[in-house]
Amino acid sequence: MKHIVSIDHIGEHEVRAIFSQARYFRGARDWEPHQISRSGLKHRVMVTAFFEPSTRTRLSFEAAMSYLGGKAIGTENAAEFSSIKKGESLYDNFKVISGYGDVIVGRFHNEGDAAIAASACDVPFINGGDGKGEHPTQALTDLFIIQDKLGNRESMTVTFLGDNEHSRTVHSLAKLLGRDARVNMTFLKPPVWKIDPVWNIHHGLKADGNTIRPDIFRDTRALHDILSQTDVLYLTRPQVERHNHGSCVLEHQRANCFVLGQSYVDKLPKHALILHPLPRTSELPPDIDKDPRAAYFEQARNGLYIRMALLQMLCN
Ligand code: NCD
Repeated sequence: MKHIVSIDHIGEHEVRAIFSQARYFRGARDWEPHQISRSGLKHRVMVTAFFEPSTRTRLSFEAAMSYLGGKAIGTENAAEFSSIKKGESLYDNFKVISGYGDVIVGRFHNEGDAAIAASACDVPFINGGDGKGEHPTQALTDLFIIQDKLGNRESMTVTFLGDNEHSRTVHSLAKLLGRDARVNMTFLKPPVWKIDPVWNIHHGLKADGNTIRPDIFRDTRALHDILSQTDVLYLTRPQVERHNHGSCVLEHQRANCFVLGQSYVDKLPKHALILHPLPRTSELPPDIDKDPRAAYFEQARNGLYIRMALLQMLCN
């Protein structure tokens, strides 16, 4: 049974196959919508159970299944409207749900819950985000636009600016990019935050056998210098729902390094990309949208094609 709990569960070969299928779907949506719905998912059912709010992930999965000719059922607020509310265990809940569909997609408050859900499922399970753990389908969406826009470069510098500690999209993307020796990653943090040895990124990259450069974690005071060397700037919002004390939130609000003003954007090379998994808050002002390097809405749109390709791979 193929479950996608972590980006580690999607091999290099599969990434390439998903990207090529996603490119086909992106083109075909405009000129051949009938071909797409004949793709063989006609009588398949996808069940979604989301315990955390979602716009892009849930709706793009549902749209993906509909475009492929299948059906999507589910609950957008599983914490309130599933039997978990009555005290049912997560394991039992997903055991039952997996009897009602051909593929299951779940989102959870806690890191590790996706693995429990997957262990209960008798059909493929996809993690739509588990706490500060992982978000594998967003990582695919992110790498897809990077490859699309920047192509095959000899080397590439990706700078992560935002709540790198609590952002699951960062954790999955870092692992995915970490497979490519040509990619240099830099993670910025506000000066007051300590680099904790249990920091997810550190752990995840180490566990995957990556060598960690001593300067992979930098302080936002170095931001101006780093931006001029950056090919991809990946922003995230403060994940306030995962901060267990108020000081991180305050620090984010105080450190205006975390608001991407035009003076920062001006430092980026002309070919650079500004990405954000969205939703954005004040860290990414709408004024930046008109900059030709701003690619986040296109990034979100591509999520549909990536999820179509993934569903087709898992359901066939
Ligand atoms: C992200 C998520 O839920 O992790 N959004 C998404 O799925 N595109 C990012 C976030 O909530 O900040």
